[in-house]
Amino acid sequence: MDAKSNKLIDELVEPTRIHKSVYTDSSIFELEMERIWGQAWIFIGHESQIPESGDFFTTNINHREPVLMIRDKEDCIHVLHNRCAHKGAKIVEERNGNVRGALRCGYHGWTYNFDGSILNIPNEEGYKDTGFDVKGSCNNLQPLAQSDCYRGFVFATLSSSTPPLKEWLGGAIECIDNLCDRAPEGEVELAGGILRYDHPCNWKFILENLNDTMHPMVVHQSIVQAAEDYIKTLPEEATEHRSEAEIIPPFGASYTNFENSGITGFPFGHHYDGGKTSIHADYTVFPAYHEAMMQAYGEERTREIYSFNTHNVLYYPSLTIKCAIQNIRVIRPISVDRFVVESWSFRLKGAPEEMLQRTVLYSRLINSSMGMVGPDDLEVYRRMQEGLVSSGSDWIEYHRQYGRDKELGDRVVGGGTSDLDMRTQFGAWKNYMTGNL
Ligand code: FES
Ligand SMILES: [Fe+2]
Repeated sequence: MDAKSNKLIDELVEPTRIHKSVYTDSSIFELEMERIWGQAWIFIGHESQIPESGDFFTTNINHREPVLMIRDKEDCIHVLHNRCAHKGAKIVEERNGNVRGALRCGYHGWTYNFDGSILNIPNEEGYKDTGFDVKGSCNNLQPLAQSDCYRGFVFATLSSSTPPLKEWLGGAIECIDNLCDRAPEGEVELAGGILRYDHPCNWKFILENLNDTMHPMVVHQSIVQAAEDYIKTLPEEATEHRSEAEIIPPFGASYTNFENSGITGFPFGHHYDGGKTSIHADYTVFPAYHEAMMQAYGEERTREIYSFNTHNVLYYPSLTIKCAIQNIRVIRPISVDRFVVESWSFRLKGAPEEMLQRTVLYSRLINSSMGMVGPDDLEVYRRMQEGLVSSGSDWIEYHRQYGRDKELGDRVVGGGTSDLDMRTQFGAWKNYMTGNL
């Protein structure tokens, strides 16, 4: 299929069903990369990854374009195209590290300041009287159209017309706030490496699964049962094993529990489930952590921070966070039937180390390819990708609680087992894909 007219794209997403080609057609995937991933604010990295001047982190902003996040000598963070201005070689090949003095291209040795400006072109005399402007800004490493940072989370966009980051985050910004506010010092920092996990399916499946509360009691049934059986065997004093095992059973919560947690949607495709309560609401609060929070915030504010309890938050299309766990997952699309998900763990500054241990434990138990929960989800994504090739039907449905969503100021709220999350995502999908930002 070649590039679609807006009308044709519009017809792929109806109010209660989606044409399967949205998940299987590589020309639609290319359009998504251009119109969604080329316009939305995409999560690049966290400022704590690059604390010193010359520290850098590299990634792709979409399925192929390499970008470089680097801190300069004035402590400013820049997001630059990772492409030499001379003949296009990637300037930095490593994922992360530190550069001393200046960035130097490994081909002909052009050097750049950390803000991307050109510093030196070797044997410059050869350009004399050629019409080449040695000082021209086209010789700089080019910045992305926009980049910005909110509470340490660095985003960038390839589009200069996308609204500013804070406006784009909208009401959903409260979830980044809650994640950071859970630190007694009000800041988080990346801890440990990044866990990368290849998925042989379309990138949208994981986003649609985040607030899909009709699946956990089915897909994760066997591991929930095993964890519950295991907990019954634990002696009273086995607190360490208990706090590990207690992460699993909430995934088997009832339809009623999930329904009551609710889903909240925002413009640009962002949403979360939970708020007043979630499957993370009943974790043990470690006494030393509680003490540090009380000292930092006082009782009322501490209770308020704990009581905002989301499960999965999506900043469409690239970032999903778990506030209460201090874990984020980052989506990196590769092709129509392949993407990589990255799991990042954060330390709450000012909190005891056991909080980080729980975050890492969660990532290992739930998100990793060797974990007990994530691989269940991956298995159903794979089945969907393979099943959608079938000529049995061209459509998937998302009717649940259609017509019952309620607008409340800047947001739309609905039942926790509804397809409000799908309606939110595909409302944004249509807007991006048809140029109606
Ligand atoms: S390609 Fe970078 S200096 Fe030539
Ligand atoms: Fe799941």
